[in-house]
Amino acid sequence: MKKISLFVCCLGVYFTAFCNIDSSIAIIPQPVKLEKKTGSFMLPHTVTIQTVETTELKQTVVDLQKRLSVPTGYKVLISGNMPTAVIQLMLNKPNDGVLGDEGYTLSVTSKQIIIKANKPAGVFYGVQTLMQLFPAAIEDSVKADVTEWKIPCLEITDYPKFSWRGLMFDVSRHFFTKPEVEKYIDQMAKYKLNLLHLHLADDEGWRVEIKSLPNLTKVGAYNAKRVGHFGDFKPIPVNEPRTYGGFYTQDDIKEMVQYAKERFVNIMPEIDVPGHSLALIASYPELSCTAGAENYKVRSGEEIMDWSQNPPVALVDNTLCPANEKVYVYLDKIMTEIAALFPFAYIHCGGDECPKNFWAKSDSVHALMQKENLKTYEEVQSYFEKRLEKIVESKGKRFMGWDEILEGGLAPDAAVMDWRSWKDGISTDSTRKNTSAAVTAASMGHNVVMTPTEFVYIDYMQSDSLMEPYVYSTLRLNKVYSFNVMPAGIDQQYQKYILGAQANLWTEQVYNFRQAEYMTWPRAFALAEDTWSPSANKNWDDFVNRVEQQFKRFNVEEVKYAPSMYDPEFIPALQPDSTLKIELKNEVNGLDIYYSFDNSYPDKFYPKYTAPLIAPVDAMQLKVITYRNGKPIGRMIAMPIKVLMGRATQK
Ligand code: ACM
Repeated sequence: MKKISLFVCCLGVYFTAFCNIDSSIAIIPQPVKLEKKTGSFMLPHTVTIQTVETTELKQTVVDLQKRLSVPTGYKVLISGNMPTAVIQLMLNKPNDGVLGDEGYTLSVTSKQIIIKANKPAGVFYGVQTLMQLFPAAIEDSVKADVTEWKIPCLEITDYPKFSWRGLMFDVSRHFFTKPEVEKYIDQMAKYKLNLLHLHLADDEGWRVEIKSLPNLTKVGAYNAKRVGHFGDFKPIPVNEPRTYGGFYTQDDIKEMVQYAKERFVNIMPEIDVPGHSLALIASYPELSCTAGAENYKVRSGEEIMDWSQNPPVALVDNTLCPANEKVYVYLDKIMTEIAALFPFAYIHCGGDECPKNFWAKSDSVHALMQKENLKTYEEVQSYFEKRLEKIVESKGKRFMGWDEILEGGLAPDAAVMDWRSWKDGISTDSTRKNTSAAVTAASMGHNVVMTPTEFVYIDYMQSDSLMEPYVYSTLRLNKVYSFNVMPAGIDQQYQKYILGAQANLWTEQVYNFRQAEYMTWPRAFALAEDTWSPSANKNWDDFVNRVEQQFKRFNVEEVKYAPSMYDPEFIPALQPDSTLKIELKNEVNGLDIYYSFDNSYPDKFYPKYTAPLIAPVDAMQLKVITYRNGKPIGRMIAMPIKVLMGRATQK
């Protein structure tokens, strides 16, 4: 049956990669149309590249030259006038009707490679696809031990589903240097992600130089270093030096923006206010409604919020005072400099998780409510957001915020980043009671970017909590891959307001850049595909194969990734006779699980999992390892029976 369907599937003139039987073609994100031809192209020892003369492609061509010459040791020549060049980078004249601004065609024959696009961005993406056709060793930073650099002949037509294909990188909770951010940009651009949202300000650090407010970086950029479980750190002694952190100078930002631009990535800055503002308040305590704020310090990860209450209650007032005119004066200064630094159209102004319990104690907030006829604290936040939107727009920029900015009334031209799509976006409008923030905002004609926690919060664990730094939730790769960016229940006429999606890497539990890479990949592969490739081409098994081909590249490049998709899921259940039943579920198909209960390390000569297990009476742990075709592929997991018992009895 399998053989027949494969045959039928591949009978057509071209095959799309959902029946990608040739594992040597393993492009992420999956192209719209891929037609494999017979034969192959062999890279000659002298490679010639003809390119259109445009400054926007300068870096693309320089990078291509480097990426082709270093691992091969071949000579790579570039010219604007070499009609017989083996690699041709061209712009369409007139424009192709289907490719849009980012699409491209890539033609590989035995003699020549031709990439054509309407715009330089399309040429750049064509080059990224081309590089993925070469063997993984093409990613080497030194000459590789490969004698033939061959790629299959094919024709590709490709263009994105959404224009917003992003990653959010939280550089506030932990600071990441400019070279690290640039490395992050390198990787995302290879997979056609085009938007880097930098979370530049939060309770734990202010990360961008604002020349008119020097305390923001003198005070606000530093806290005391702690490791362990962020959120549970002990109070920091008052006199402990605060030297951990850092910030980007304005020159750093300009260089990062330029670096990103050369790779067709926009950087969107986020200044998160009026909540999450402790670094700002520690720098300028006069912006708080709360007496004693001059003693506030930049947070290291000690407890500042009681999340067990609904709504959560702040233990330290990390909010700006919406009733203080100085707040708007300072925000004007900040937005003036931010707007000048970042050419991207939007400034993200946060707005999430703003506790109201300190506002409720503030006479000045009550006076503001009376004066402005504000009935609820959500309306107070809405008042703040509307004023901030005006400030942002006065700098020639557009205003964006997390979906809380819907509560209490959305500012007139605000764009919404939907992170709680499970939540009613507008509590005061009963006609929209069960509508997500995204649908609510889009139906009012506001632009929306989808970042729902359940599909794209890549700060969450990727497999069992035993194997990952603990975070309160789990997001496995297959869940990210199942993400349909277009929200359910949205009218066709409003779909145009859904700009796309991004995955968010919050870094409370991410202490170094290697871990940031680990958290990002492979889940950002799935996001790249969710936002670029046609949904009809989605196929989990095929995606896994392509992910594994990318892993080989990452091994060469020494980029860290998570092998978590090979970890089985443990599903414990307490039986009526008090025994513990343990079901194991693989995320990746075709893996075998071998196990032991006797504390020894299992291999393929141990029992193979075929059905749920019953833990033997005195067993202390279940050790498992996954294999594929007789070879170990997963990590050894030593799961204490006590832990499983605890989970089973908690349910
Ligand atoms: C968020 O996750 N607080 C936007």
